[in-house]
Amino acid sequence: MQHFLTISDLGNEEILELLEEADAFSKGAVWKAPEPVFAANLFYEPSTRTKCSFEVAERRIGLELLPFEVGASSVQKGETLYDTVKTLQSIGVKVVVIRHQEDEYYRQLAGLALSIVNAGDGSGQHPSQCLLDLLTIKQEFGGFRGLKVCIIGDIVHSRVARSNAEALKKLGATVTCSGPVEWFDPTMHLPYVPIDDGVAEADVVMLLRIQHERHQETAHLTKEAYHRAYGLTVERERMMKPGSIIMHPAPVNRDVEIATSLVECSRSRIFKQMENGVFARMAILKTILQKEKAVFQTA
Ligand code: CP
Repeated sequence: MQHFLTISDLGNEEILELLEEADAFSKGAVWKAPEPVFAANLFYEPSTRTKCSFEVAERRIGLELLPFEVGASSVQKGETLYDTVKTLQSIGVKVVVIRHQEDEYYRQLAGLALSIVNAGDGSGQHPSQCLLDLLTIKQEFGGFRGLKVCIIGDIVHSRVARSNAEALKKLGATVTCSGPVEWFDPTMHLPYVPIDDGVAEADVVMLLRIQHERHQETAHLTKEAYHRAYGLTVERERMMKPGSIIMHPAPVNRDVEIATSLVECSRSRIFKQMENGVFARMAILKTILQKEKAVFQTA
């Protein structure tokens, strides 16, 4: 694995191996890069969880992290993504973690002799979020086969939904979706269910943030109306099965997609997901560094 770009690139075996590595890190395993490796995180879109947890993961496995801020870089003078990454490669960076607003931005970087880790591309994919979500589900239920997952909210604009639905289906889970029908994405081939049915039947209720930054139109509902129609209200949470859990990639809009009192309730794994983000990202970086040692040595 030279790059980590999409869940579609990974077979079930590779996903399960990454989850095993991540789970070992969650239980205290230690691994350090055997030689100095420079890494840089390029976030063209805002981030708290992904950026900070990649940074913790990089430090924990001993990478030399370059402080790179898009807003204080020559990107502000018009430098392209390609020229920025090629520049970093030229000065010795071997791993770049990139979040960018353009779907599949990484295609323009094909051929560069460093490793690219996708930290989210437009409405495309968010594979490291997917891995930490899978880890959280696997820790809870032991596996995926036969599990019922209902993804609720702004499906069409969600790279998290796209990555998670694909991975969960590959691994044997049944995935449905709910939320405003105009935000349903037929290309994802998910059965649409009324929200009350989805919540009542699911082992995992996965809520999504409304991606206002990717909407052309203005919001068609007030926050209160959205919460009543499509949010996980206190009343809906009471309909959930015993043992079922609540997930959300965050940031959370409290009292919109989820009632504020449920964010840290006993079913919620929202902060567990964030904790697992470090372990999932350590596993991704370790796998890249181990498998691509030869590439780095000849580059
Ligand atoms: N879940 C997630 O990607 O959060 P950030 O946007 O804060 O990184």
